[in-house]
Amino acid sequence: MTGPRHFIDLWRLQNADLRAILDDARRRKAARAGWTRGRVDADAPAAGRTLAMIFQKNSTRTRFSFDAAIRQLGGASAIATASDMQLGRGETIEDTARVLSRMVDAVMIRANSHADVELFAAHCDVPVINGLTDKSHPCQIMADLLTYEEHRGPVAGRTLAWVGDGNNVCSSFIHAATAFGFTLNIAAPAAYAPDAEDLARARKAGAHINVTLDPRAAAHGADAVITDTWVSMGDKDEAERMAALTPYRVDAALMALAAKDALFFHDLPAHRGDEVTAEVIDGPQSVVWDEAENRIHAQKAVLAWCFGAIG
Ligand code: CP
Ligand code: NVA
Repeated sequence: MTGPRHFIDLWRLQNADLRAILDDARRRKAARAGWTRGRVDADAPAAGRTLAMIFQKNSTRTRFSFDAAIRQLGGASAIATASDMQLGRGETIEDTARVLSRMVDAVMIRANSHADVELFAAHCDVPVINGLTDKSHPCQIMADLLTYEEHRGPVAGRTLAWVGDGNNVCSSFIHAATAFGFTLNIAAPAAYAPDAEDLARARKAGAHINVTLDPRAAAHGADAVITDTWVSMGDKDEAERMAALTPYRVDAALMALAAKDALFFHDLPAHRGDEVTAEVIDGPQSVVWDEAENRIHAQKAVLAWCFGAIG
């Protein structure tokens, strides 16, 4: 017997399933152009299903996009912060997973610790979706790749440049590189380098990933320049990070080194004047609002995959 379809890290999924999810997202988005945001898709693949969402950290996009997503698929949601739950008073992750398995059809978790999401999934009889951990943010990258392909066509063979902290979002780009066939240039300071295990696994699987200390080298000729906050939720060393990452700010001069039609990506929330200048994020190359909207469309396809409707 096979277990539930968990969506925890992109590298654990089959390449064909990842492609099917992205294609389903594109089709679903096109099919509802001009509709109100609460209207249910014609096939309603989540009819009769409930998604529970648990948040150990703050969220705007993940929270509202998953809520919109499950409703557009014809399902319902239940949302709680971990501190509202008995989880916040010491009930175990395993027991929480066993209980929710009897009450809902899927669980999305945003957690401090990646290991906690894996533990939850190991004791959960329904699909578990990673809504961001300290290690990865797979839903964000599916939305970003949907956005790239909407604007520029297939991402395979293109070069994406990550400039800044080699953090959880960067790791999910590393996880996606093999399946989607893009080259990833990463520029990060040595103290905030991308995860070595992620890099080794991806390279072994055939990914083209270049790591450098030099933001200009990473951006040179790239089809997209991507960054994220210098201080992620849970990071304590704010002053050290700001100092080490200042040379990695994405500004107009850096964008000018990329391809002429390069796009700028940021998962948000953004800090204008730190990791990106206002001129870039609010400028014509920026697709950050499309990225945010596409969280809904990408996650609908992730949910459809978890429920066995695609792939
Ligand atoms: N990008 C993203 O995940 O945003 P939230 O933290 O607002 O969910
Ligand atoms: N790297 C950021 C992403 C927020 C969506 C964080 O983990 O806080």
